[in-house]
Amino acid sequence: MGVEVDTVAQATVAHVPGSRGRLITIEGVDGAGKSTLAAGIADATPGLTLLREPGGVAMAERVRELVKDPALEIAPAAEALLFAAARAQLVTELLYPALERGEHVLLDRFVDSSLAYQGAGRGLGLAAVAAINELATGGLEPDLTLYVRVPAAVAAARREGADRLEQGGEQFFATVAEAYEKIAAGRPDRVRVLDGSVPPGEVLAAGLRIVQQVLRQS
Ligand code: TYD
Repeated sequence: MGVEVDTVAQATVAHVPGSRGRLITIEGVDGAGKSTLAAGIADATPGLTLLREPGGVAMAERVRELVKDPALEIAPAAEALLFAAARAQLVTELLYPALERGEHVLLDRFVDSSLAYQGAGRGLGLAAVAAINELATGGLEPDLTLYVRVPAAVAAARREGADRLEQGGEQFFATVAEAYEKIAAGRPDRVRVLDGSVPPGEVLAAGLRIVQQVLRQS
């Protein structure tokens, strides 16, 4: 298995030997500022491994190229299965082994993205998308999810609109955002909401406080 985690950097985050690492995910609509936040948190937290979805391992990066390609026609079910396939490979090849070694992982998007985008946005239904993701992840759940909430107009202005998924249109993103709100409301134990409309430095400070609190508890 091609596990490429920097074990030297990992050693800088204290963890009890034998204990499982924490999985922290970041979610939000395209244009929420999620990836900037993820990079900022990873930079400020030595030993926290940053991964993104779809991606993180070679097979999943290939799927990323596929799902983003504006030249391709991809049916909703095929899209959901492609994201789930990329996720299954990431979990098996890299994520689960890293967590088992006690390493903490910050993951830019995870199952909630599929629930919001494919389940709600593409209309496949949350139950069907949850079921294929149960298979893909073996039931792995994040310890913490940071949901970056922004007003629709702010996210729309930040979107480049170039790739296949970003061409969804305003109604699509409104449906996705509504699904994220429902997920956040239904899982207050796991999901923390961040106001993404304030300056990036403030979003980062708020995110860091929550992440550090969770890592201290590990
Ligand atoms: P992202 O990495 O946020 O895009 P970018 O790097 O361009 O900011 O996510 C890639 C796209 O894939 C994004 O439009 C959201 C979409 N996506 C889904 O629709 N379902 C999923 O399960 C995942 C992980 C992403």
